[in-house]
Amino acid sequence: MTEPQMDWEDVYRQDTAPPWSIGAPQPELAALIEQGKVRSEVLDAGCGHAELSLALAAQGYRVVGLDASQTAIAAATAAATERGLTSATFAQADITDFGGYDGRFNTVMDSGCLHTLPVERRQGYVEAIHRAAAPGAALFILAFAERPFGHDGPGPNGFTADELRDTLATRWTVDEVRSATLYGKDFQPPDGADPPRNVKRSADGLLMMPGFLLSAHKDAEPSR
Ligand SMILES: C[S@@+](CC[C@H](N)C(=O)[O-])C[C@H]1O[C@@H](n2cnc3c(N)ncnc32)[C@H](O)[C@@H]1O
Repeated sequence: MTEPQMDWEDVYRQDTAPPWSIGAPQPELAALIEQGKVRSEVLDAGCGHAELSLALAAQGYRVVGLDASQTAIAAATAAATERGLTSATFAQADITDFGGYDGRFNTVMDSGCLHTLPVERRQGYVEAIHRAAAPGAALFILAFAERPFGHDGPGPNGFTADELRDTLATRWTVDEVRSATLYGKDFQPPDGADPPRNVKRSADGLLMMPGFLLSAHKDAEPSR
């Protein structure tokens, strides 16, 4: 399955919010916050409208959201200001090749970013977030499984569990990859694709799509 290169700026300039902007953090990641698994400072990688960052800041976490889209970053910044949240900051960056945060983050969270990246840029991403992580930092990635919409047309670069593990294991110590659900609003299938099938619907009308939650950590530096 391949993802034609998305124009993220164009996506966020539309009048209608994209299907992944559900007005709340993805439930799998919200659960990690509730379970106390997140430590400041947090990197929200590919934050988009940044409901994850905003929820973290509302609970007192310090968080930096990075995204390719300046429009999304402006919207996230405005939402933080409107909600009086001062511990969330946002910046435009290419998450596959960014600097300026070396060793800074104790938690890196990815709410549906990795599976949008072209396959050939995945390792750049894995390296860049590893560089930005502090020794011992936790990494959580919520990513689509293969063919999450149940059709063979264009779509995100979803993973098998082994592919996801192997992709991160080049730099990170992977602790777990387990099945997970991604939620989204209804969307128009890409040209040439059948309507989504094998997709469930939640009680509040959101689409429920199959994915994985990867948990990993950056090894602490060896003591001398
Ligand atoms: C499916 S959206 C998820 C957005 C957000 N994390 C959420 O849960 O609503 C994927 C996000 O990754 C961002 N993205 C894609 N490629 C990127 C890159 N190379 N650098 C930074 N952000 C990127 C997009 O702009 C988009 O906001």
